[in-house]
Amino acid sequence: MSFSEKQEALVKEAWEIMKEDITALSLYFFTQVLEIAPAAKGLFSFLKDEEEIPLDNPKLKSHAVKVFKMTCEAAIQLREKGEVVVSGSTLKYLGSVHLQKGIVDAHFAVVKEGVLRTVEKGVGEKWSEEMKGAWSEAYDQLAAAILAEMNKEA
Ligand code: HEM
Repeated sequence: MSFSEKQEALVKEAWEIMKEDITALSLYFFTQVLEIAPAAKGLFSFLKDEEEIPLDNPKLKSHAVKVFKMTCEAAIQLREKGEVVVSGSTLKYLGSVHLQKGIVDAHFAVVKEGVLRTVEKGVGEKWSEEMKGAWSEAYDQLAAAILAEMNKEA
């Protein structure tokens, strides 16, 4: 099934709302990820030696924002081109960072669940099955592109 204008609009709409409260939502995102997979703590430089999830850590916020923003960009590309195209150097970088950190397929599923929970929290009453579907599809395609690059480099 192709990605519709409506789906693209739902992803963008959510991101516009989330931006307003992105510091708190970044924290919420990592809280969810660690609730789903406590072992993921050891993967992140800014979490592994911490008792609590650090409030206001720029690296934490940066990773959360990248995931949301790139999913949003993926949605735009899916609608425009029918596929996710990450520029060569960015994709290579994403591939090597995650490969080096020991990230595997299953981690992407955990992060996906964290993303969906955070979007749900962020948009409140605007949350819908359709919005969930649009975010899921865009995230899956982005994750597949990163994983393909990782497999190429491995
Ligand atoms: C680093 C993006 C999924 C774990 C990074 C970086 C980017 C990025 C851009 C470089 C550092 C930064 O700018 O923050 C993404 C995107 C993802 C994704 C777009 C999915 C669509 C994941 C998943 C995991 C993960 C599933 C594992 C649970 C990490 C780790 C680092 C990293 C451990 C190194 C950060 C550090 O320890 O300081 N990611 N990532 N990422 N990513 Fe991801």
